[in-house]
Amino acid sequence: MSETTETRPVKGELLHEGKAKKVFKTDREDLLIQEFKNDATAFDGTKKGTIEGKGTVNCQVSAMMFKLLAENGIENHYVELLSENAMAILPVEIIPVEVVVRNITAGSLVRHRGFEEGKKLDPTIVEWYLKNNELHDPLINDSHILAFGYLDEDGMALLREKALKINEILLEFFAGIGIDLVDFKLEFGRRPDGSIILADEISPDTCRLWDKETGRKLDKDRFRFDLGDVEEAYQEILKRTATAN
Ligand SMILES: Nc1ncnc2c1ncn2[C@@H]1O[C@H](COP(=O)(O)OP(=O)(O)OP(=O)(O)O)[C@@H](O)[C@H]1O
Ligand SMILES: [Mg+2]
Repeated sequence: MSETTETRPVKGELLHEGKAKKVFKTDREDLLIQEFKNDATAFDGTKKGTIEGKGTVNCQVSAMMFKLLAENGIENHYVELLSENAMAILPVEIIPVEVVVRNITAGSLVRHRGFEEGKKLDPTIVEWYLKNNELHDPLINDSHILAFGYLDEDGMALLREKALKINEILLEFFAGIGIDLVDFKLEFGRRPDGSIILADEISPDTCRLWDKETGRKLDKDRFRFDLGDVEEAYQEILKRTATAN
């Protein structure tokens, strides 16, 4: 879906300001603008800060990942880059189920499930989380999704299949630039014709990325846990991603 627009969309009314991005209407019904901020939050918004240059890194990295996925048959909302930290996207109705894919133990698997960090997972874990800040994005299961009508059986199977295909593509890409893709979060949305496409972002905010050689964390965990050199880690991901293209 990465066709370019004939004329550049003009930014209109602010539709939504989230923690990491702003979404604007445009002069075209069929396009939105997604602008990436330097603001960083963690632990349900209780930790707040800014990461200089993050908006640009996340926008550029997301654009490259969306292009790569589109080339590999994964339809997504990306249309074109408009500036260093803004992109045109296709509007979707976001499905309030976040899909998390895990290749290596980290994060909540360590904090809440008692697993040791850094163990390879086989099979890959796919998890569903309800996208609801007030409820702190709780883990949910297939029955919850069916009972509350977020997706039917086919929709769940489709999202799982897409998530695993995306995982294969991204695992290979990141391996090529010396990075282990530990885990990541995806959001999907419905187009007016009922089709479901990938939306939101794919960036060091939404992926855990570890250097293959040193194990160094090159993602938002540096901010979450005050590991230092946060800006430098984001720049490193941008640099490696850009040189791979
Ligand atoms: N193609 C799209 N069409 C419509 N909305 C989208 C699209 N892609 C992403 N979004 C939504 O735009 C918002 C982006 O803002 P951001 O990621 O900062 O939100 P957030 O703070 O993480 O969470 P919240 O969604 O709770 O505000 C998100 O709500 C996301 O679900
Ligand atoms: Mg978000």
